[in-house]
Parts: sequence; structure tokens; C-alpha cells
Amino acid sequence: MSNNIDRTGHVTLVGAGPSADLITVAGLRALRAADVVITDRLVDQALLQGLRDDVYVVEAGKAPAMHKQTQDEINHLLVQYAREGCNVVRLKGGDPFVFGRGGEEVLACRAAGVEVTVIPGVSSAIAAPSLADIPVTHRGVAASFTVVSAQSRVDFEQFAHIDGTLVFLMGVSKLRDIVRGLASGGRSLATPVAFIEDAYGSGERITRTCLGDAAVVATRISLQSPAVIIVGDVVNVLRDVMASVRAA
Ligand SMILES: C[S@@+](CC[C@H](N)C(=O)[O-])C[C@H]1O[C@@H](n2cnc3c(N)ncnc32)[C@H](O)[C@@H]1O
Repeated sequence: MSNNIDRTGHVTLVGAGPSADLITVAGLRALRAADVVITDRLVDQALLQGLRDDVYVVEAGKAPAMHKQTQDEINHLLVQYAREGCNVVRLKGGDPFVFGRGGEEVLACRAAGVEVTVIPGVSSAIAAPSLADIPVTHRGVAASFTVVSAQSRVDFEQFAHIDGTLVFLMGVSKLRDIVRGLASGGRSLATPVAFIEDAYGSGERITRTCLGDAAVVATRISLQSPAVIIVGDVVNVLRDVMASVRAA
């Protein structure tokens, strides 16, 4: 990029949602006005195909030479390009503030005196259950939902006592710990569970099971990341209601 420091750059964190169709109008507008786009592995690549030819794209998950940039390196790039006067878009899968380290990027920009704004996106925590016909709240069934990062070394037993829907992100490698924790915390083994893999992507797959069978089913289907894991009665609620309507 040029060393033009006459104009002031700007950073916009844009939530890309789970697919190119599910980005917001404001997000798409920001993307179309970008000089530099720093993107993530989980962003739908179709969003990058519509960019002007002169837009500089950095794939933060891969480049350069398959080196996965650290968060500090990404923060540095955001500040560097903005200081060169560029309109920088940081494009992130889902929503930037849902396990997306968007807060750290905002702080890094502000600490460097760089203007930064955030355009929210549709998080996979919401989009994946919608795709599977699962309302995360439903009157009389679940009055709350809790979104949990399964990678945060949490004690999963504590979530057994939450009276609502549980939505686990980054949970594939932790599934056995999740099941063990919820069961030992008192959640019934009959509690419905859904796996939604690669929602809106080419590997999209929806699997319904129950807590007691979840680990076995995950092995049988070879559950793959990215996946959202839903635990709670909402998993089957629309099916159950429709079945009872048909039976009446
Ligand atoms: C680092 S978190 C980022 C979450 C993202 N900021 C969001 O709001 O969706 C990555 C996790 O999000 C979930 N995820 C993201 N995209 C997904 C998709 N298309 N299908 C299923 N799960 C997805 C998976 O649990 C994945 O491991």
C-alpha cells in the first residue's frame, strides 16, 4: 500500500453473517467502499468476489504463506492501513462481538487513535438454529438462551442449572466434556440436542439426538467443525407442535 498519510483512514468491523446472503445492507455498503479488506477463514468467499479490482484483500487466517496471523499482528495491520489513509474493513464471520475478538480490535484501534466503527452481523448462534427450524426461545418452553464458547475451559456442569436453551460454539472437540458436565449437573439424558454443521455452507448438515446419545451419534456421523450445538427442549418444539396439530 502507498505511504499516503494526508488523509485519515478508518476501520470498520463488519459482521459477515454465516453466508453472503445474510450480511446486512450496511455491512455490504461498507465492504463496497473499502480500500483494504482483512478477512477471516469463516467468511463466505462469495462476499470477496464482488469487490473492486483495486481492493487489497488480506486473508488473516491463511496468508502469508499459510502463516496464521496472531491477533496482535491483525491489530497492527488494521492500525497500519488506517494510518496510511485507507478505508479498512475487518470482515468477520457472524457477529464481530460474538467470540470474534472484535472488542480487542476496537480497543487496539482506539489506543492507536484510529477511528473505528462496528456493523453487527447475524451470529451463527442465531442463524444455525433458525436454519434447523429451532427457535432459541419459545413461549412456555424456553424463556432464555445462553451462548457458550466451549473452548473457554469452562466447567460445563454449571450450565446444567440454567433453565433455558444452551447454544455451544466451538464445541465439536469438547462434546464429551459438555455431555458429561450437563449430565452430572442434573440435565436429563433425554434432553434434545441438535448439531448444525457448516450452516448455509456446502457441508451443511442437521442432526437431532438427545444428551444421552450425543457423543455416540457425533462419532457415528463424524461431527465436523464449524458446528453449533443446541441443547434444550426447543430442538424439537416446532416438530412436536406440528405433529400434535396433524394428530388432532
Ligand atoms: C470463533 S467462533 C466465531 C463466531 C462468530 N463470530 C459468530 O458470531 O457466528 C467460531 C464458531 O462459530 C460457529 N460457527 C461459525 N460459523 C458457523 C457455521 N456456518 N455453521 C455452524 N457453526 C458455525 C462454530 O461453533 C465455530 O466453531
